[in-house]
Amino acid sequence: MDPRFSLFFLFVVVAAAATTLMDEVDDSASESGPFIRQVVDGSENVNNPRLGAEHHFELFKRRFGKSYKSQEEHDRRFKVFRANLRRAHRHQSLDPSATHGVTQFSDLTPSEFRRSFLGLRSRLRLPSDASNAPILPTEDLPTDFDWRDHGAVTAVKNQGSCGSCWSFSTTGALEGANFLATGKLVSLSEQQLVDCDHECDPEEPGSCDSGCNGGLMNSAFEYTLKAGGLMREEDYPYTGTDRATCKFDKSKIAASVSNFSVISLDEDQIAANLVKNGPLAVAINAVFMQTYVGGVSCPYICSKRLDHGVLLVGYGSAGYAPVRMKEKPYWIIKNSWGENWGENGFYKICRGRNICGVDSMVSTVAAVQTATSQ
Ligand SMILES: *[C@@H]1O[C@H](CO)[C@@H](O)[C@H](O)[C@H]1NC(C)=O
Repeated sequence: MDPRFSLFFLFVVVAAAATTLMDEVDDSASESGPFIRQVVDGSENVNNPRLGAEHHFELFKRRFGKSYKSQEEHDRRFKVFRANLRRAHRHQSLDPSATHGVTQFSDLTPSEFRRSFLGLRSRLRLPSDASNAPILPTEDLPTDFDWRDHGAVTAVKNQGSCGSCWSFSTTGALEGANFLATGKLVSLSEQQLVDCDHECDPEEPGSCDSGCNGGLMNSAFEYTLKAGGLMREEDYPYTGTDRATCKFDKSKIAASVSNFSVISLDEDQIAANLVKNGPLAVAINAVFMQTYVGGVSCPYICSKRLDHGVLLVGYGSAGYAPVRMKEKPYWIIKNSWGENWGENGFYKICRGRNICGVDSMVSTVAAVQTATSQ
């Protein structure tokens, strides 16, 4: 090829990449290099550097059906939205193997997001019934594994504006364990946990499971063990509010916990427990998830302060190859923010170095085999 031509070709590719990047984050042109600024100047009104963000805000409102009570609120949300475009841009540079951009949470400040859409209350002590998972052999683990291919994962749910992530992580793990024990996939009730599980550690006041104000999967397993089980989703549907009284009906139990345990930090043990026992309840730091759009998240830096409960459903060994990087293995995680978030409701995060604390608090549950399954 003519070297001048390949140089031109390279220029076109870089320009296209830069334009794509600017689609997401054109508000932060001032933070970018002169080349990117030039692309923006060429395609948008130079006299109105905010046009890009306004345009994206319009698209965002339409796409997620957002409307605001007053002009004042609208303007405040636009400011937050612009700040989140800049954040998405920062996340993109810190986490190049994922795509970060506009999500349904783009008009929320990080603390609003934490308050309403996460909900993990970390506790230091473990419930008395939790034991450490026995060490499993790891030699013959499959290189790729996904419980969705084996029918153990229900459709993605949506916790709404309620800090009840912990209840979705809990039901997801028990749904999988119940599938393994009975051969039937039954969607289980988060609302039962939100309304009825107020499991506390007497030595740690303020650590109780408390509906939309947060909870912990291990204590929810403890509650489920003591209560006898969980009802079906359809018999105790989700409302996303926590001011209701408990309507648990023992005669309608659909799945019961036989025992649950905590898995060590070892990633091979996590994988072995996943394959043997079904999807696992895991905790994670969700800061990159507010702007996550797709790909494998593998940020250079991420806090390990756990604030979100999710479900580990599988792993891939090397399914993606970011430019100039080696292919990396990753975990597949089911979230509870609806199917419009992330990759149809799922998140991928790289394996190998406890990224965002994903290996720090992993638990596995076993379900009681019911009479109907025999
Ligand atoms: C449940 O207990 C059995 C027997 O002690 C053990 O082998 C199994 O690993 C436990 N399962 C879980 C998920 O804790």
